[in-house]
Amino acid sequence: MRAAVQSRYGGPEAVTITDREVPQPGRGEVLLRVEAAAVDAGTVHLLEGRPSFIRLMMPLRGGRVIGGDVAGVVEAVGDGVHDLAVGDAVFGVAHGSGSLAERTVAAADRVVRRPDALTAAEAAALPISGSAAWRAVRAAGVSAGARVLVCGAGGGVGHLAVQIAKAEGAHVTAVCSAAKAHIAGEAGADAIVDYAAEDALARGPFDAILDAGGHRPVSAMRRALVPGGALVIIGSEPESAAMGGFGRSIGAGLINPFVGHRLIMLTSKEDRESLEALAALAESGAVRPVITRELPLEEAAEALRGLGRGRGAGKTVVRM
Ligand SMILES: NC(=O)c1ccc[n+]([C@@H]2O[C@H](COP(=O)([O-])OP(=O)(O)OC[C@H]3O[C@@H](n4cnc5c(N)ncnc54)[C@H](OP(=O)(O)O)[C@@H]3O)[C@@H](O)[C@H]2O)c1
Repeated sequence: MRAAVQSRYGGPEAVTITDREVPQPGRGEVLLRVEAAAVDAGTVHLLEGRPSFIRLMMPLRGGRVIGGDVAGVVEAVGDGVHDLAVGDAVFGVAHGSGSLAERTVAAADRVVRRPDALTAAEAAALPISGSAAWRAVRAAGVSAGARVLVCGAGGGVGHLAVQIAKAEGAHVTAVCSAAKAHIAGEAGADAIVDYAAEDALARGPFDAILDAGGHRPVSAMRRALVPGGALVIIGSEPESAAMGGFGRSIGAGLINPFVGHRLIMLTSKEDRESLEALAALAESGAVRPVITRELPLEEAAEALRGLGRGRGAGKTVVRM
């Protein structure tokens, strides 16, 4: 099978299209015929090995098929899998095996049935960014009528956070560059602020700030929160090669017990709970990823150009 493989750390040029053995599903796993996969800031982090601690946590041993997000059809099930069957159309993550390949293996509890409302490309665009957005909205405790600020609203996580906060009945102010205002608009933001022209924090106070871009100081964002309001740091980049954007998040965690706001460093994961929630939101029409680029597997390296360093626009999908 053909796969997009990284055999060294580097930029998009470190990715080559290579022939690989079709992986076999083990116990609790399913083999998928991949229809579409997606790439994001996390794919670039792993490709570049930045921040540096990633190289220790997830060492590159031989070639690694890149990508995690996947939508595909079950071709075989491993022992112990009873709730998925051959022929099921599913979406989720294949972190271990990698998703930019014609076939991949995923843990059966990391994929769920694909909602009819989504194409394969749209479903592939949801798992990682959508789970982060859904968990951020939940962590913030967003409810009907809440005033929510989403920073980085033109990016992969941010525009989905706009949609999910809107689904909760919030009034959402989106911050992005003028070039990405159409993405925040398509996501349904009530107000859109171009950060080059205006400081969106001055439009506060907000009940919650969901931060997926901009890397504003925590102190400045706290001043734009109501007492007891929540700041959820999803991520932003880069701070340093060693720490990425984590330095600010760790600082927020340290002061959190002593301040009158909830400062949350989001640690997302993609599991049945978040994937089922996203499927339900998609089925109801509340969530639909904005795909700005869709390329064939042969152009996997090209798909990665323009991603990372907080440059993403909506979602980038790779189709098989
Ligand atoms: N915590 C977790 O578990 C988790 C999970 C997923 C992702 N993340 C992290 O979350 C961050 C966002 O991920 P992503 O995939 O959405 O990245 P992305 O697609 O690159 O989006 C980031 C967005 O931030 C915008 N931005 C840059 N400077 C800004 C500013 N000053 N004000 C407002 N927006 C600004 C960028 O576009 P414009 O400047 O052109 O508007 C871009 O659209 C990344 O750091 C990623 O690693 C964390």
